[in-house]
Amino acid sequence: MKIAMVGTGYVGLPQGAVFANVGNKVICVDCLEDRINEIKKFCDGQTNKLPVHESGLNELVLRNYSSKSLDFTTDINYAVKESDLIFLCVGTPANGDGSVNTQYVLNVAKEVGNAMNYADDIYKMIVIKSTVPPGTAKEVSKVLKNTTNNNFDIISNPEFLAQGEAVSGSHKPDRIVIGLPKEKYFGSLKADSKSVELRETFRKLYAPFNMKGEDKVFFMTNEDAELHKYIANTYLAAQIAITNEAANLAKKVGANWRRLSAPFKYDHRIGSFIHPSTGFGGSCFPKDVKAIVKVFEKEGVESKVISKIIPANEYQKLILNQSLNEFYDSNLKDKTFSIWGLSFKAETNDTRESSAIEIIADLLKKGAKVKAYDPEGVPDMKLKLSERQDISDLLENIEFFSTYTHNSKYDALKQSDGLMVLTEWMEFRQPDFMEIKKLLKIPIILDGRDLFKPEQMKELGFNYICIGNENILQ
Ligand code: UDX
Ligand code: UDX
Repeated sequence: MKIAMVGTGYVGLPQGAVFANVGNKVICVDCLEDRINEIKKFCDGQTNKLPVHESGLNELVLRNYSSKSLDFTTDINYAVKESDLIFLCVGTPANGDGSVNTQYVLNVAKEVGNAMNYADDIYKMIVIKSTVPPGTAKEVSKVLKNTTNNNFDIISNPEFLAQGEAVSGSHKPDRIVIGLPKEKYFGSLKADSKSVELRETFRKLYAPFNMKGEDKVFFMTNEDAELHKYIANTYLAAQIAITNEAANLAKKVGANWRRLSAPFKYDHRIGSFIHPSTGFGGSCFPKDVKAIVKVFEKEGVESKVISKIIPANEYQKLILNQSLNEFYDSNLKDKTFSIWGLSFKAETNDTRESSAIEIIADLLKKGAKVKAYDPEGVPDMKLKLSERQDISDLLENIEFFSTYTHNSKYDALKQSDGLMVLTEWMEFRQPDFMEIKKLLKIPIILDGRDLFKPEQMKELGFNYICIGNENILQ
């Protein structure tokens, strides 16, 4: 199939490369010239980094670019003309009040409509992959109708990619949700050939990912699909909020979260998001839960549970800071703390809504200095912190260490008054503890990901503060 992916970010780029990899002809288009140039430089061997860090993505992009199944452009007219399916993958950030900013989706819809005017009597399928609130497909349809007399259908096909696993995840999706316009969904399949064509197109497109005899393609209406995506993320975010709250309780009553939670995986009704943390981050959960709360408000439906998820998560973000503050008798001024892990989870360079942002801001405000290391997240974190007005005059108190500048994680520890580990990167899981102890001024580790063994920490003489287990103070 001939496909355009509009928006070459964390979703559009991996998904585009995966579509190309199974035999489609894909053009990725982005309004940012720098981004397209960066990708092309990578493809032409002039650099070794893509703007998106995803496991397996570099190889996939190179292979499919060389075989000419994957191309990159800023020219949306060209991309639309060459394609039958046009995926909208632009971001849908939160507005200041938590509602979704669908402006980018509506803008590109207009651009796509204009680009469709290169001839008469043409037909395109416009597929919304971005996460958008119920009713957006209808709005996109209106925009298209106002910009072109040509024919189109709007399909909702939300993504369920977990960052860091976007490539493997899109090869093996656990479900594929396809929302059709209501009249096409309910239209008699015999009478309405478009209804049949739409279903067949999406079955064919996703056939390579739907192999094991199990039908994972679910057709529904646009509104169903739009809401499905929000509720999926809400379920997951709620589970993390419950996990974190329960882990805090476990710590208080002298239980051990890792021990007590292990059997949960044998109860299939309980999900797998049972790992305590300093709160969920990323481009999806925080924004999508805020957005669905706004939809509740707009529709006048009371939310007594879902509306509590974000405040609970905000509280959790500073849970380690509270312990650190107690450890140092509320005096963090002029102390230096090392942080390992800036991205919102392992295997991504994305720091959007990462708890590290709040943790660092809080430490700086308390007069502390920060030495921060991440294998991939440093450039993005620098950008995020520079956008924070409240700490703009404190940024000289943070020093960054990364593989980009050939620093190791140990370089970030010298003369520090403690180490906080915030992201579960593989390289943090079994570090050289003797080296850590040698470099830190005070041997204290705050473990935000439940990575280390309390007994081992005790044996090695560390003060150890984690989530879900009693502190070891020695
Ligand atoms: C995606 C989704 O689309 C979002 O709705 C979902 O909730 C999370 O995943 P993401 O891929 O993370 O967003 O966004 P981002 O990495 O910011 O990429 C968006 C890209 O679209 C950027 O490269 C941006 O330059 C491009 N863009 C944006 C356009 O090409 N045109 C525009 O008008 C706006
Ligand atoms: C999520 C959804 O999983 C995906 O289906 C959707 O399309 C986009 O949003 P993503 O944001 O990439 O994906 O990451 P995910 O692995 O779900 O983690 C989100 C956040 O929750 C991270 O900060 C992660 O560290 C945290 N988390 C996850 C926990 O704190 N504990 C857990 O048990 C699981």
